[in-house]
Formats: sequence, C-alpha cells, structure tokens
Amino acid sequence: MTPQEFDYIRDLLKERSGLVLGDEKRYLIESRLTPVAREEGMESLSDLVTGLKGAGSEALRTKVTQAMTINESFFFRDKTPFENFKDIIVPAMLASPRSTSRTMRIWCAAASTGQEPYSLAIQIKELDDQLRGWNIEIVATDLSEEVLEKAKSGLYSQFEVQRGLPIQLMVKYFKQTGSLWQIDSSIRSMVKYQHFNLLDDYTPLGTFDVIFCRNVLIYFDPPTKSDMLGRMARRLRSDGFLALGAAETVIGISDDFMTVTGARGLYALQESAGTAASPPARVSAAATAATPISAVAQPVAPAAAPATSSPAKPMASGPRPAVAPAAAISASARPAPPVAAPAASTAPAPAVRPAPLGSAPALRPAVSVAPAPQAPAPQAPAPAGGIASRPV
Ligand SMILES: C[S@@+](CC[C@H](N)C(=O)[O-])C[C@H]1O[C@@H](n2cnc3c(N)ncnc32)[C@H](O)[C@@H]1O
Repeated sequence: MTPQEFDYIRDLLKERSGLVLGDEKRYLIESRLTPVAREEGMESLSDLVTGLKGAGSEALRTKVTQAMTINESFFFRDKTPFENFKDIIVPAMLASPRSTSRTMRIWCAAASTGQEPYSLAIQIKELDDQLRGWNIEIVATDLSEEVLEKAKSGLYSQFEVQRGLPIQLMVKYFKQTGSLWQIDSSIRSMVKYQHFNLLDDYTPLGTFDVIFCRNVLIYFDPPTKSDMLGRMARRLRSDGFLALGAAETVIGISDDFMTVTGARGLYALQESAGTAASPPARVSAAATAATPISAVAQPVAPAAAPATSSPAKPMASGPRPAVAPAAAISASARPAPPVAAPAASTAPAPAVRPAPLGSAPALRPAVSVAPAPQAPAPQAPAPAGGIASRPV
C-alpha cells in the first residue's frame, strides 16, 4: 500500500465514521482490510483502494468502514458506571417529581456486541423492587451491522460470559446452547438495537434520561468529540446523566457538562447547556440514595414546561433560565474546571452528515410523559416505532 493509498483509506474512515488513525496504525489497516480485499476477490490493498474509488463503490465503502471498527466490549466493563447507575442515577430518577410517570430512556451510543446494554438491563432487572412498574427503554446503537447482529442474538462464548459477569448473574440470566451461552429473552427484549452513525443527526432518536457513550470518543479527534458531546447534551433531559469510558472526559472538550462529584466518568448538564425538553427539577435525590451520593445541582425548568420526552417537541434552543438548584439536593456537584478554550464554541465542529438514519423509523418513547400527579402512570403499549418498552 503506497502512502497515498494509506491516506486515501484514512480520509475515508475519518469521513465515514470519525475514526482517526495515526501513521503508526498502518498495520491495523493492513490486518483488517486484507481479508476484506480477499473476500472481494482482490489481490491487494491497492486493488481495494482502486475499487473504493470506482463508481458504485458505496457498499464496499460501508464494508471497509465497518471492518475498521474496534468492537472490544465485555459485561459490566469497568464496573463503576454500573455502580453509578445503581447508586446515583436510579435514586435520582426515583426522587424526581416526574418519577410519577415512571419512564426512563437510556441510550447506549456505541453498544457494540451488546454487553453494555445487557449489563444495564440485568441491573435494572436486579433493581426490580425499586423499579417495578417503570417503563424503561434501552436504545442501543452502533455503526457496525455485524456487531448489532451478534448483540441481537444474545449469544456469547464461554470466554465472553466469564469476562466481567458475576457467576450468579450468569447462572440466573444465561442458558447454555451448545458451546455458547444465550442471554434470557426477558433481558434481550429490554433492548432495542438500531444501526446508527454517531456522525449523523441525533434528533430522530428522541430525548434521553441517560446516555452511555463509552469507549468510542477515544477514536475521534477533538472537534468531532466536541461536536458529538454538544449534540448529546441536546438529546439529554436537563436532569439527565452522561456516562463516558474510563479513558474519556468532557474536560477541555465540552462546556455543556459538569462532573458529578465522587462519580468517576459520570456527567450532568451545565446550566448553560441548551437541552431537550426540561422536566421539573429533581428534588431530594440524596435522601433516597442507597449510598451517599454527591447529587447534582440541576436547574429548574419553567413551571409551564411540561415534562415530556416526546422527540417531536422542539428542543429548547436558548439557554435555560438561571435558577437555584433544587433545595433538597446537596449541591455538591462541582462544575467542570474552567476550560481554557471551550472546544464547543471555538473548535470547528464537523458538519453533521446530511442523511440521518436512512430509512430507520424515528424512535419514539413509550409514553408521553404527562404530569401524572398521584397514581402511577399506566403501562403504555409499545409505540409504533417498535421500541422495546417493558415494565420491570
Ligand atoms: C470499543 S467499542 C465500545 C463498546 C461499549 N461501549 C463498551 O464500552 O464496552 C466501540 C464501538 O463504537 C462503534 N463505533 C465506532 N465509530 C462509530 C460511529 N461513528 N457511530 C457509531 N458507532 C461507532 C464501533 O462499531 C464499536 O462497536
């Protein structure tokens, strides 16, 4: 492969998936794409590049892009995000005034082979006593169709189920089928998989209470990370949470988020972040937390703003009103350290790719979260878009 051919593939990957490869990653291109070239009946990577440049090469471009994705994942990876989910996020959701609607939408933004969304689904099942009657949607997306197929099958090797998964959960939620282990259908049905490119427009996905975007930003350059985090902020409800991977941070990249004290890798929205529909302020999160939490100081939405997760609603475009943090929350979340040059406003944000989601149906939440004063909201039927939505 000539330097020009290497550059051609590198540019293609950057444009199609955001992946940035340094010169030292030449071996990765060779090891990943040589089998693709062979499958296509080509003799060399030079032939592959010629093919990529030819007319009608869209399918080949997609194949090459997907072949270059790094799909490493395992159950309960890094543990902390899942502990944060149990000890901080769920208590905060339970304490929220809008918990009367009992809905939670979670987006696993780079779900790979499914271990991350299934770990969350297992954890939600394990919190059945607290979350009974809730409609919880886990929307799991990835660029690679191959990993999504595996994720949907719920089939894992012995090695994969032994990696990160506590034995009692393995016994409880997996059944052996031949040499593989299949996750229980009750867990599988909690996750809706969708092919989605993080370079595309996020609006059709709707709004979320929680976004897990772990171990994917590391592959992108700072302007791309900054752009994605800004767009995620606008998909997150004002009292929502973002979980990043252990090697990832918002600091120096986005001024839309602030760290949650004592919760590694967990972020909440800054007051100034332009967000999706704002629910009423969350109160008393600390009071119900199973373990001491450093709760998040969240702004209060205008009284008139209905709590809704309908993606059809226009997003709040301007800054949210400056208000005091909810009274009963110990406002110990500290804003992210001042960023020298907020990347979101200074770095040239890459343009969002024009064609969002292809023919995928717009995701719609299970229910319209209307103020439901006393009684628990009734279970809503599955939406037309076919989102997995189930009570736990
Ligand atoms: C290393 S895996 C992370 C899996 C999981 N989040 C975890 O932490 O275990 C990264 C995933 O990001 C996906 N990915 C890479 N670029 C993407 C893009 N532009 N849009 C959506 N997914 C992407 C890859 O296909 C891969 O499955």
